[in-house]
Amino acid sequence: MVVRPGITLLKHNFLVTTKKIAVVGAGHVGATCSQLLAQKELAQEVILLDIVEGIPQGKGLDQWESAPIEGFDSRVIGANAYEAAENSEVFIVTAGIARKPGMSRDDLLKTNAGVIGSVSREIKRVAPNAIVIVVTNPLDVMAQVALEETEFPRERVIGMAGVLDTARYRSFIALELDVSIEDIQALVLGGHGDTMVPLASYTSVSGIPLSQLLSQDRIDALIERTRKGGGEIVSHLKTGSAYYAPAAAAVQMAEAIVKNKRRILPCAAWLQGEYGMRDLYLGVPCMLGENGIERVIEVELDGEERAALESSAEHVRSTVAALKSLD
Ligand code: APR
Repeated sequence: MVVRPGITLLKHNFLVTTKKIAVVGAGHVGATCSQLLAQKELAQEVILLDIVEGIPQGKGLDQWESAPIEGFDSRVIGANAYEAAENSEVFIVTAGIARKPGMSRDDLLKTNAGVIGSVSREIKRVAPNAIVIVVTNPLDVMAQVALEETEFPRERVIGMAGVLDTARYRSFIALELDVSIEDIQALVLGGHGDTMVPLASYTSVSGIPLSQLLSQDRIDALIERTRKGGGEIVSHLKTGSAYYAPAAAAVQMAEAIVKNKRRILPCAAWLQGEYGMRDLYLGVPCMLGENGIERVIEVELDGEERAALESSAEHVRSTVAALKSLD
């Protein structure tokens, strides 16, 4: 091939600006993320990292071998050393242990804090400008560990919670009304877990308020099911926790960032005065773009919603305090 001077030869036959997205943890959530990232061609290279030798290499190769069938050109590369992920623009962090039946997310606290601490230091070393999406539970606290260890600005350390919680809520509403999932808009705030705050007043079906389509009793039942959504999956699986929807949620956030879509998505953000709160991660609507969190959006809440958000924040604060007391 003759390449004229001044013409950039693209490495692959598609035009993307993002060269690398890394996923840390090649378990259920992480490997599902890497497959989705590759299928959506969100980066030229998808780097799958894990502490266990062979797992990321094997899964990465297996996923790359699906490329001829699925028709994607993103290379999936598995590795143990972080050098492979040097200068990745986005890291999705799923490393840690998953919840077992009867175990709360908070039980995972100490083990996963140690994992997130070491992962964060590696990210800072090889990709100091990266945007980090934290998925590991207990989410709001692990995001704080990542923020403290990377010392990145708050815009670049984001927790994945609200997109998943909202997706669960929307999926239950679609089942209940037997309508397309595409027409359901909803907002879930607060910490990730049983204290999340689904906002009925911001939920609509093609603009029609949910309260015109369902009785308050039914809405309350769907909200309750959403709050317990993670536990419902754990009780079915018996070993391990949900991974298809969590991975899809993390990848949607990465897509908003690498395509600079400026989407409004509920994310766990480090609050600095928003909603009258400071120095904690809590799920709030954020605009996601190339800089990570471009804006935190404050919505009006009624008295009951505000009280629920306060109690969710209190739960996050007490989990952080529990972690600090273990140090
Ligand atoms: N560095 C890299 N990878 C690690 C490390 C580490 N320090 N410690 C553990 N891992 C890897 C494990 O080897 C495993 O492959 O993280 C992976 C976790 O995978 P799973 O056990 O399958 O857990 P998964 O279901 O993917 O959940 C991961 O996401 O949704 C949350 O609650 C969930 O915190 C859990 C996380």
